Amino acid sequence: MSSEKIENTYEKVVELAKRRGFFWPSFSIYGGEAGFYDYGPLGVLLKDNIIRIWKEAYLRENALMIDTPVVVPRAVFQASGHVDKFLDIAAECDKCHLRQKLETFTKSAGFQEVFDTVDSGLAFVNEHVVKCTNCGARITRVFDVRQMFFLPDQGSSGDLFLRPETAQGIFINFKILNNIFRGKLPMAVAQSGKGFRNEIAPRQSLIRMKEFNMCEVEVFVHPEKKYWAEIDYDEDITICPRSSPPLRVKAREAVESGLISSNAMGYFITLTQRILLRMGISKERLRFRQHEKNELAHYSFDSWDAEAELDGNWVEITGIADRNDLRNHEKTSGESMSVSTDEGDIVPSVIEPASGVDRIILSVLMHSIMTRDNGYTVLSLPAEVAPYHAAVFPLMKKNGMDQLAREIYRRLSMIDPYIFYDESGSIGKRYARQDEIGTPYCITIDGTSLEDGTVTIRERDSARQIRINAEEIINHGLLGNPAISRDKFSGQSS
Ligand code: GLY
Repeated sequence: MSSEKIENTYEKVVELAKRRGFFWPSFSIYGGEAGFYDYGPLGVLLKDNIIRIWKEAYLRENALMIDTPVVVPRAVFQASGHVDKFLDIAAECDKCHLRQKLETFTKSAGFQEVFDTVDSGLAFVNEHVVKCTNCGARITRVFDVRQMFFLPDQGSSGDLFLRPETAQGIFINFKILNNIFRGKLPMAVAQSGKGFRNEIAPRQSLIRMKEFNMCEVEVFVHPEKKYWAEIDYDEDITICPRSSPPLRVKAREAVESGLISSNAMGYFITLTQRILLRMGISKERLRFRQHEKNELAHYSFDSWDAEAELDGNWVEITGIADRNDLRNHEKTSGESMSVSTDEGDIVPSVIEPASGVDRIILSVLMHSIMTRDNGYTVLSLPAEVAPYHAAVFPLMKKNGMDQLAREIYRRLSMIDPYIFYDESGSIGKRYARQDEIGTPYCITIDGTSLEDGTVTIRERDSARQIRINAEEIINHGLLGNPAISRDKFSGQSS
């Protein structure tokens, strides 16, 4: 049985996500609020798995973990530049009142300009005819929108903001963290948590939200060397540098030839690829694109986006930026951010791999969704990403099969809680329900199980089955169990 990729996946994923309980728009009984999404029973498990894969990859890099508040005093974002510079230049159609970033209007009119002030935007729409993408009226109204949510006069020190990135919580704790790390460099610190942005036009479900989940790492390096560790990864990456056409290279070679500016940047681009592939992003649909100079965030000198191809569009899912925030905080707070090294005192630079968890989740679902020849949907998720590792079924709810199935389920879930039990509906329907949510294995207890203690295990993608002793999986679990490795399912009948 073969599985085919689905061409237009977005609508299909969003429908499946709501129906089966991955995610859906928030506050729907009160009419909804654009830019907010709830994760349901399956989405919570999937999200945890995505974050766990990221966390484990960075623990292997010896990263320190931290968890800081989402509400942050003005002083922090004044120093970081967000209060003054984290703005969107927006436009509103006078006729139909569609409100978007000015660049969304100008790009669809074929212009490539980037605007960082209201004046430059106004001058542009006065000189050029830019039409509304909805009703075709000419755009003339340009204004700025602060991207940070603001809680006026709520704190003991004045205004408070909801953080638009977790990064600042790491920067302002740099000295404490570096002391914990015994004054060594380079040092990586990781934080996962919520970020908030006052998006002008929230859209595409998990792609552009006002409240979102981030996994950010700040890698503190010597500012001249920007060195983390030898790049011993051998795999190719697809890069789109500013200065040359897209190419497939090894990160080590791209650093040596100067296409990627530092060892640390090359190292974390490749590590990002490893992490994303492990999460279920397809390698053929992933690339790393260097920012044009005029699209760099106010805090970054160089930046590469890991972009996933989604129904023909490239969407940023992780950004790897070269930034220098410690100097800003040193200057504004008066606290030294320097570290003593053999070459004297230095203020480290930062390489920041920052991931949007929700965008990764949507991309993983869009890269995983397939349809079988019979029209049924399969989510071909990596086993460690799937909400459930296995489902347990009695073939029929009679003759003791259900009692034995429940007993196997109870014992199996003691060593692996990500197991689902289902005894309702035909066996075919139960398989289909699990395929659709990505469960890699279905364990069925049948008449033979009552006689000899064996069960069938059906693998999701091939829909093939093998028969093994139940004790084999009860004792060793499912993930990584050699008795049920993929090759065991080749050549068997489904
Ligand atoms: N800290 C990276 C970002 O805000 O996108």
